[in-house]
Amino acid sequence: MTQVSRSISREDDAAFAPLLTAAEVARANAYAPYSSYLVGAALSCDDGVIVGGCNVENASFGATICAERNAVLHAVAIGHRTFHACVVVTQGPEPAAPCGLCRQVLAEFAPSLPILLVAASTGARRLVHLDEIFPSTFGPADLAHLKK
Ligand code: THU
Repeated sequence: MTQVSRSISREDDAAFAPLLTAAEVARANAYAPYSSYLVGAALSCDDGVIVGGCNVENASFGATICAERNAVLHAVAIGHRTFHACVVVTQGPEPAAPCGLCRQVLAEFAPSLPILLVAASTGARRLVHLDEIFPSTFGPADLAHLKK
């Protein structure tokens, strides 16, 4: 299958560096005793604020929350709803893209968010944009007619 991705320039690298560090820091706090698949995510918000999240698993597996959604919820809880970029650091040898639920939650706030995917063990990277990997989204515009 064709991978949607873009080449990563030196400028991209510099811009993503603080986010990458934050995602790695968050990943160090991942709670994944069942899968051992540690994930860290970081979002850049307005005013240079960076907010991280990690996956938090649960003995009731369906209650597990992914790193990306944790980062979004964390950001919203401290007052940020504008996201400029995201880094996700995953466990396997190849970078992995956010799951469907995380794509939906990210798209609520930033439908074309640039996301740098990084494989922790190899450093392999892939730059994607959310609208490329998650097109035809059901989003806020679909409910706009309900607003009074
Ligand atoms: N996981 C994430 O944190 N983000 C994703 O986008 C996919 C999966 C987590 C959930 C679970 O703790 C582990 O990875 C294995 O699925």
